[in-house]
Amino acid sequence: MTHLPNSLAARDIASVLHPYTNLKTHPETGPLVITGGDGVYVSDEDGNRYIEAMAGLWCTSLGFNEPRLVDAATEAMRKLPFYHSFTGKSHPAAIELAERLLAMAPAPMSKVFFANSGSEANDTAIKLIWYANNALGRPNKKKIISRLRGYHGVTLASASLTHLPNNQRDFDLPLDRFIATDCPHFYRGALTGESEEDFATRLAENLENLILAEGPDTIAAFFAEPVMGAGGVVVPPKTYFEKIQKVLKKYDIWFVADEVICGFGRTGNMFGCETFNIKPDMIVLAKALSSAYIPISALMINEPIFQALVTESEKIGIFGHGFTYGGHPVACAVAIRTLDIYASDRIVDHVRTVGPILQSGLCNLASHPLVGEARGIGLIGALELVKDKAGKDAFPPAAGLGGKAAAACQKQGVFLRSMGDSLAFSPPLIIDAGQIRELLGRVERALDETHMLAKSSGLV
Ligand SMILES: Cc1ncc(COP(=O)(O)O)c(C=O)c1O
Repeated sequence: MTHLPNSLAARDIASVLHPYTNLKTHPETGPLVITGGDGVYVSDEDGNRYIEAMAGLWCTSLGFNEPRLVDAATEAMRKLPFYHSFTGKSHPAAIELAERLLAMAPAPMSKVFFANSGSEANDTAIKLIWYANNALGRPNKKKIISRLRGYHGVTLASASLTHLPNNQRDFDLPLDRFIATDCPHFYRGALTGESEEDFATRLAENLENLILAEGPDTIAAFFAEPVMGAGGVVVPPKTYFEKIQKVLKKYDIWFVADEVICGFGRTGNMFGCETFNIKPDMIVLAKALSSAYIPISALMINEPIFQALVTESEKIGIFGHGFTYGGHPVACAVAIRTLDIYASDRIVDHVRTVGPILQSGLCNLASHPLVGEARGIGLIGALELVKDKAGKDAFPPAAGLGGKAAAACQKQGVFLRSMGDSLAFSPPLIIDAGQIRELLGRVERALDETHMLAKSSGLV
């Protein structure tokens, strides 16, 4: 496709390096330039309107035109456009936000460290774990376990936790000390005849065997998303986290809950940790913390870990870590207002009301000839497309059927994300029942179109 000179598309191609994009084909396909948003919809430069069924990147929980957040940002910028928390300085918004997060944490937490992205917060968690274990006289307890298909970000260390091939291949990752355990996807991972509980038991045994093989004294922490997001929306099998936590406790391994997607209502509770009874030692928050209106992330740590940091910083003379924009007053003010709105608009109750409509709609779509599994909880879900429902046979990756299905959804006016051949759903939490039905109707038409395409290409 040629793009008119000086069009936004031509200027984009000439200037922007796009994340998660095929850089070779982008100049031909060109960008889709989004210019506005309202509620759960966004519009492109040609005036086409789409249901943003991914809330952008699992993040715009309050939709695309929440004036109360705009007001919070404007007021904060007028009051104090920048201040930091280095060298003991502080400001009211960081203090209030930290207090609010500690008060709502799903397990006792002692302190909050602010950063600007999920990756930075996970990276910080790793650094603090290493620092704390040095303080605790455990210099060899440094390895970190995360799960195949888990997503924790893209910085050097957080991408080392992200065991997805595209995030590691040819970036020379993972770094040393990062090891992977099983993905808890029952549909793909269970043995014939295995129950969810037995699958969970086997995964916990595999984890224990891995810890024993590596040496329990070398394993510091385990990172997990309560529901895996970017790995294809994987809801853990029954009893999974209970059994995993038992193993971690036995070997004194810290649990870091990556709540970057699940936090703030997505799974039908304020935190995914509540939904799955996880008692973490650290919690990572981002995305819906500010409804993504402004970059901010937070790492909460418990008291024993904080005390270890105190010991080490006393020894060294300073805790040598921090980001210029961490705890930015405008970002903190927007996050505080976001939390206010979650409370005043009863967002978690709303998710509990409309989540089942999304889930039952996805279950109905499981009878579509292309869908092998419908899965999800609250307002997060996925449809996994398969070549053969009975045998669960996947399409050849080269066919790119998931991408084609996402493109068909886009033609129907819906943005979804394909992860391999799974189509992910994570709409703004404010979506209403009618909009969910509209979304499901459009997706069904897109699946029909994709099915016809698969037939005409001899794929089914
Ligand atoms: C669970 C999880 N953790 C961490 C991240 C990384 O966040 P960021 O893209 O803000 O660095 C993401 C991003 O999608 C995520 O889904």
